[in-house]
Amino acid sequence: MGEITFNPMDAEFIANPYPTYHRLRAEEPVHHNPRGFWVLTRYEDVLVALRDPRFAKEAIAAFVAARLGFAPPGIGLSMLDRDPPDHTRLRGLVSKAFTPRVVEVLRPHIQRIVDGLLERVETAGSMDLIEDFAYPLPVIVICELLGVPVEDRDRFKQWGLDIARGLDAIWLPPDSEVAARSMASRHALSDYFRALIAERRASPRGDMLSALIAAEEAGDTLSEDELLATCILLLVAGHETTVNLIGNGTLALLRHTHELRRLRENPGLIASAVEELLRYDGPVQRTARIPSEDVTIGGRTIGKGELVLPFIGAADRDPAQFPDPDCLDITRADNRHIAFGWGIHFCLGAPLARIEGQIAINALLQRMPKLALATDTPQYRQSLTLRGLSALPVSF
Ligand code: HEM
Repeated sequence: MGEITFNPMDAEFIANPYPTYHRLRAEEPVHHNPRGFWVLTRYEDVLVALRDPRFAKEAIAAFVAARLGFAPPGIGLSMLDRDPPDHTRLRGLVSKAFTPRVVEVLRPHIQRIVDGLLERVETAGSMDLIEDFAYPLPVIVICELLGVPVEDRDRFKQWGLDIARGLDAIWLPPDSEVAARSMASRHALSDYFRALIAERRASPRGDMLSALIAAEEAGDTLSEDELLATCILLLVAGHETTVNLIGNGTLALLRHTHELRRLRENPGLIASAVEELLRYDGPVQRTARIPSEDVTIGGRTIGKGELVLPFIGAADRDPAQFPDPDCLDITRADNRHIAFGWGIHFCLGAPLARIEGQIAINALLQRMPKLALATDTPQYRQSLTLRGLSALPVSF
């Protein structure tokens, strides 16, 4: 036990984490890392960590603060960082805006945004799929939903990237520049939202920001700091995840020409294809929990207060759950992947992300019959929590 050397900072691991996941799962599925955290890689164990209320969230903020020596602003206040009953209250305030039925109404609008983005590049013959297509789509959609001016997107692009990278701070050295940058960007984004909230308070509109302000003004449902944390969570979640569903998903299809052809010939397979792409190379590789009491899992006891990292990306390649897990099969049966998590924190944006992914990938394949990779070695962003490409050059 404990002999496996697993360094999450290895460039090789970032480029392709799946062989390491398989090794950990086979040799030490409940792995204690010398850097001071536990790693879960089996589907059944990850599911327990996501479902069992003893694997809680609220202690994470204090854990991160103790490790870094300072408390990043806003950490610990959004629904993602809370346990019931606060989690239930905060999630309830925004959940109505993300139900499958509400999101379905957006479909024609999302299709128009997709068509517009592809028309802009169509005559060029090549593009960076991330910069020109996968990134702008979810950004435009979440900005419109929240009521954030899309024109400001160049201002908060870097803040979003820094904050997303800051999710890695818990396993980087405490003096790492990553934490400092993430903190500066959180401050900048908080200031940005403070100004926007003041504007909307004075003249409300029909957007989600105005609705949240109304909830805050109604009394004890939402504090001002929680309002700010909710805005930051939604903006960053809308920015840093769906881009990677479209990016990782397109790359997987371009590398599996048989599946690509099947989907192109049967666009009706898109819903099932997107689920498989989420399983095969999902945007969120891991999450975190801290047990509120000692818990025994997979024969090992994790102490109260210790940091546990359930690896969603590893669970979704577990051969005990998914036959032939490294094979991409867009019609995979019984695909109970957990790319959107499970239990009370199940991704609130899942219906939106699914629709965006389905429309974007189908439009790409239909409008660009000669779509091909323009590099053999696409580069991944330096991130251990979110998995995504820094660029994806393609020709068409
Ligand atoms: C393909 C894209 C996406 C993926 C793979 C993804 C994945 C996830 C995962 C795994 C969680 C659970 C984390 C945990 O249990 O600790 C989560 C939570 C969440 N996601 Fe997403 N997400 C995506 C897109 C979005 C979008 C577009 C939005 C909003 C616009 C969003 C908003 C949220 C929120 C608010 C939570 C917190 C839910 C809670 O704590 O109750 N996500 N997401």
